Amino acid sequence: MGKKQQASDDVYAQAAGAIGGLAVAFGILAAIRDKLGLSWPATVLLTAGVLVALGYGAWRLRAAIVGLVAGGKQPAAALKQEAPAEGLVAAEEAVPAHPELTEALVTAGVIDKAEVIRADEVTVEPVSTGERYRFLLPKTRTYKDVERRLENVAGWYGISRLHVKLERDRNNERGAHLLMLDAPPFSQPFPAPTREQIRSFTGVPLGHDVTGQLAGVPTLDKASMVVGGMSQMGKTTLINGLITCLLIAYGDFDLYLLDGKFCGLVTFEKACVRYESSDDPAVFESIADELIDRGARRYEKMREAKRNREPEPKFKPVIFIVDEAADFFADDGTPKGKERSAGIAEKARKLAAKSLESRISMILLTQRPDKDAIPVTVRNQCQYRLCMYVESEGTAKVTLGDSYFTTAAPINPTHLNPQIKGQAVMFAGGTSTLIRGFNFSDEFMWEVVDEVAARQQKVLETAPLSPLKQAIDLMRNAGVEFMPTADLAPALGITETRPGERGKQLSKKLGVTPGKDEKGVVRGYWLTDLIAATAAES
Ligand SMILES: Nc1ncnc2c1ncn2[C@@H]1O[C@H](COP(=O)(O)OP(=O)(O)OP(=O)(O)O)[C@@H](O)[C@H]1O
Ligand SMILES: [Mg+2]
Repeated sequence: MGKKQQASDDVYAQAAGAIGGLAVAFGILAAIRDKLGLSWPATVLLTAGVLVALGYGAWRLRAAIVGLVAGGKQPAAALKQEAPAEGLVAAEEAVPAHPELTEALVTAGVIDKAEVIRADEVTVEPVSTGERYRFLLPKTRTYKDVERRLENVAGWYGISRLHVKLERDRNNERGAHLLMLDAPPFSQPFPAPTREQIRSFTGVPLGHDVTGQLAGVPTLDKASMVVGGMSQMGKTTLINGLITCLLIAYGDFDLYLLDGKFCGLVTFEKACVRYESSDDPAVFESIADELIDRGARRYEKMREAKRNREPEPKFKPVIFIVDEAADFFADDGTPKGKERSAGIAEKARKLAAKSLESRISMILLTQRPDKDAIPVTVRNQCQYRLCMYVESEGTAKVTLGDSYFTTAAPINPTHLNPQIKGQAVMFAGGTSTLIRGFNFSDEFMWEVVDEVAARQQKVLETAPLSPLKQAIDLMRNAGVEFMPTADLAPALGITETRPGERGKQLSKKLGVTPGKDEKGVVRGYWLTDLIAATAAES
């Protein structure tokens, strides 16, 4: 700064000084060259190298001295912010700062230059994949301040956002647990969890976190989920893992599966109420209609119970999973097609919205990157969002939400390593967690499915199916929406052959009035009417 002033005072003096300096530098270089017998370029390079090395050495020495005396200097600032009211600055209360964390958090902009992380409030514990720092922030800060600048903290340590995981201390807003991995996440595979581990997890496990612990969502009750990611990243595998865990530990629930793509969910056909493999929007609509009806009946029962001042009825959870859902929402560009796809989107939205009270949850998977792969109205109803590797942030937003990158400590799905399959950013309850889905062996999944199917069979044997349910099963197995009385009656064990009498007997047995086929000619029953009549069940 002095030089600057001088320059403004006297430009000539500065020029003279510069010439003098140059002459001296040239003299020194000439002397070195003479002494060492080197060429001019070699002399210049060597001298520059020695000067840089000396400068670096001096900087290191200074940093070390600052570190050593930090105990005497920085705590004064710490005390200042810890007891601002009293303005106490008592030397005997001075506590050394944790130099590394303090510098990291100051540089990252989490705390002020005058603030410190106290060394006696930091513990470092090794975990299988790295180290976990537990520390307290100054009294002016909270855990959220670290969350907001997590990328910068990772940057200070020279690692990526994917290498760090931040957790809050449940008992102290100033407490933060910062996990730092030694290697990129999931460099080593974790073994699939055992039945015991799945059962003892509080919530629904979806995969491992970066330390190998099980991670998931608290419950699927009153919640729907969307899973996105490029093709072959592990969506179907993750959902297979989820269904396996649900079958092991979620208790009694009704599973509806719609395989929009090949046969990714077929393993569970035996253990579900309804399995369809189709990319026809009509099939999606038919399941959605069935579940919306079921939801409506549940609402009616809840209303009735409230009206009669009875306890709220307990409903069996229903989980509807659609693999490759985007196809059902796509339209062919014609006005009619658009109208139809809008109708389907509305049904899906309604279903996801209803899940809040009626215990019907929906899980949608998609590999399509388009903006409207999952209509925004549907996605917004999904409290849980998972995104596997995608090529652009725009695609990540399709799944995670338009404002995802402004949430606390987001994880960018474009940064995931696409070679490590099954990795997903799980965004739930406003928090992002990096997980890797389970990859159970087929044998394990078959075993679980067989057990559940055997259990369901046993229940059926002790409480045989009602004629109504038998009729529904029959029609579903035959893949028909309408069945004439003439066919349905014998199938349900009615031997009467006179049409009038046979019709009466069947109607009585089912408790449903018959209808007519599409042409209004043949008497019989519509599947939708039968399903609607299962009002007794919930
Ligand atoms: N967690 C995992 N661990 C190891 N391998 C995995 C994992 N998840 C998926 N894979 C493997 O990655 C491949 C793709 O998986 P998957 O079929 O589940 O992907 P997808 O996202 O459903 O693909 P698509 O969009 O084409 O349906 C499979 O070979 C599978 O075995
Ligand atoms: Mg798939």
